[in-house]
Amino acid sequence: MDFKDLKTKVQKEIKTIKDLNDLDKVFRNYLGKKGEITKIFNTLKNLSIQERKKIGKQANLLKNEIEKNIKEKSEEIKEKISRIRVEKEKIDITRPGIRIKSGHLHPLTQVKRDAEEIFQSMGFSIIEGPDVETENYNFDALNIPKEHPARDMWDTFWLKEQNLLLRTHTSPVQVRYMEKHNPPLRIIVPGRVFRHEATDSSHEIQFYQIEGLMIDKKISAANFKAIIEEFLRRFFKTEIEIRLRPSFFPFTEPSFEIDMKKGTGDWLEMMGAGMVHPNVFKAAGYNPKNWQGFAFGIGLDRLAMLRYKINDVRLFHSSDLRFLKQF
Ligand code: PHE
Repeated sequence: MDFKDLKTKVQKEIKTIKDLNDLDKVFRNYLGKKGEITKIFNTLKNLSIQERKKIGKQANLLKNEIEKNIKEKSEEIKEKISRIRVEKEKIDITRPGIRIKSGHLHPLTQVKRDAEEIFQSMGFSIIEGPDVETENYNFDALNIPKEHPARDMWDTFWLKEQNLLLRTHTSPVQVRYMEKHNPPLRIIVPGRVFRHEATDSSHEIQFYQIEGLMIDKKISAANFKAIIEEFLRRFFKTEIEIRLRPSFFPFTEPSFEIDMKKGTGDWLEMMGAGMVHPNVFKAAGYNPKNWQGFAFGIGLDRLAMLRYKINDVRLFHSSDLRFLKQF
């Protein structure tokens, strides 16, 4: 077969090829160890110098050309493969997505975190205390001795173990913290509290409070009012109206109740507060002559009820998805 025919034959074969395996076969058939073109080179040694030169040259040209053809074909096939792959992997951006179902934070948790953030930005640290308290921290150290009628303000779940109870408020953490830290200080204590009482739309046996405590050389009720107004304004993201009402707590003197005006024009009791009683400073090891401060206890559930216009506190612990999904 002469070179021209051979070339035409190989090129025809290459043209029809569609995948790399077949192309490899062609390569082996012509350029491999036992390939047709390779064979030509092997026969050169039997030829005269003249012919060897001539045929050798032609064979080389053919070899180079076929190599080039195969290389081109191989690139063509590879490009096609990758084009098909891209085509296949392409996503249809007009197709509706599949929504991933996920839960979300409980409304009380959301409110707690928002409140923490606001107080933190005002320099308060977040502190926690135990849910199971001793009688001392929950009552005595807060100036509520045994047999004192003020104990009746907090209906208490007592544990079988002596002198242990479920804390009725977050105020015990005031004393726990002051025992271990020197003033000046600014803390809030978010946490769960428990009351042994009948439940209704505004009372639960467990709910959350945020205790606040700020102690320094000169702290007044005016400081308290400014801070709490700033907190409520930022929490509700609107101007709010509050009033301080005289009240009584054994651990503060004077004591007040803070009410906030609702959209309906009614006042809602939001928290108890007051200036820390000297006896509490004494119980914590501070000299009441050197330090002053205010304390407050915000009802977290009340905050959430006002923010989301919820009319029954019991819904928070109902695990009712129809309720929870709204937040
Ligand atoms: N501990 C009080 C309560 O639970 C609230 C309070 C806290 C009042 C701090 C004054 C100061 O009712």
